[in-house]
Amino acid sequence: MDALNKKSIEDIDVQGKKCLVRCDFNVPLNGTSITNDKRIVAALPTIKYLMEHGAKVILCSHLGRPKGQYKPEFSLAPVAARLSEYLDTEVKLAEDKEVVGANARKMAKELADGEVMLLENVRFRQEETNNAENFSKELASLADIFVNDAFGTAHRAHCSTTGVASYLPAVCGYLIQKEIDFMGGALANPKRPLVAILGGAKVSDKIGVIANLIEKCDTIIIGGGMAYTFMKYLGHSIGTSLLEADWVEKAGQMMKDAEAKGVKFLIPIDNKVGKEYSEDTEAMVVNSDEIPDGWMGLDIGPATQKLFTDAIKGAGTVIWNGPMGVSEWKNFEAGTVAVANAVAESGAISIIGGGDSVAAVTKLGFADKMCHISTGGGASLEFLEGKDLPGIMALNDK
Ligand code: 3PG
Repeated sequence: MDALNKKSIEDIDVQGKKCLVRCDFNVPLNGTSITNDKRIVAALPTIKYLMEHGAKVILCSHLGRPKGQYKPEFSLAPVAARLSEYLDTEVKLAEDKEVVGANARKMAKELADGEVMLLENVRFRQEETNNAENFSKELASLADIFVNDAFGTAHRAHCSTTGVASYLPAVCGYLIQKEIDFMGGALANPKRPLVAILGGAKVSDKIGVIANLIEKCDTIIIGGGMAYTFMKYLGHSIGTSLLEADWVEKAGQMMKDAEAKGVKFLIPIDNKVGKEYSEDTEAMVVNSDEIPDGWMGLDIGPATQKLFTDAIKGAGTVIWNGPMGVSEWKNFEAGTVAVANAVAESGAISIIGGGDSVAAVTKLGFADKMCHISTGGGASLEFLEGKDLPGIMALNDK
């Protein structure tokens, strides 16, 4: 995908124009309090540019999965409040249960140049996730221009990400541009060696990513729960470790494909195993071909840390998706910490994509040391798989 070929907010005149801006304000909430506002912060450059250039800014987003019904606990009211603080101006929420209702229409009509308003959660409407024409047209009727800046939702072909682009001039914002510049750049024209670190629980979630990255990377590092399916293919006994039995052959095929292409494919050589899946379980380190019955792998071991960090040291570019073990537990975070340290110190262009790895890197205190932390979970994975993202494809070409 060549997103650089898509028009951006800088390619059009926004002065005095009503801009419908799709953001990804799908933030974690504890009741009505936002527990992590990174996605709101990431949307600010586009919003500020539009305000400073005299646009009338109509923001919209989804929040959670209210399944096409108005549910007050999914209201974007907390987001409106947080935006008001960041932008130092009141961002009013159009409190319409049907999203595009009397309030939204009136507020959009009366919006002055440089002012900002927010629509209610677009997923209060059943039509949103079906990409239905009527709701796309309703959204479009509020504005003169559509700006998509919701990278985290760009893999969804919904009314507010894709459908609306059929009825308005459609351009991308700075966040989408930045995400594509980093991740697209890393895949298309990487500073080599390009090292991909893939972890997380399931091979089945990452198989498309591994297949695509084998074509592009010099080294692929596999950790986390999914590594045990690869070990199973090698004939190791893996005790009670996570296993996707249906994926063993496919995992083996990936290893063979990598070998045929001369791509270094590293899987753990030792593991920290526990008696049960619990934070304080009895634990020990064993080689990958020696996991006893009744024990499960919960982190990579020290020899694997060395193997992986040595491979990361010389990298020109690192793409990392998924933790190396159960990094939310102190006893099993060492592998993820070691890898995070190595990435931070490598001097490589470092790109962290995907919800779990971002959470791990942030919690372990390495977020500031990475070059790019993607705001996309599913969207980054699909991008790394080489798929076209409908929310970007729908935008106007330059
Ligand atoms: C995300 O959090 O990954 C995005 O906001 C998309 O949300 P969704 O999976 O509910 O479509």
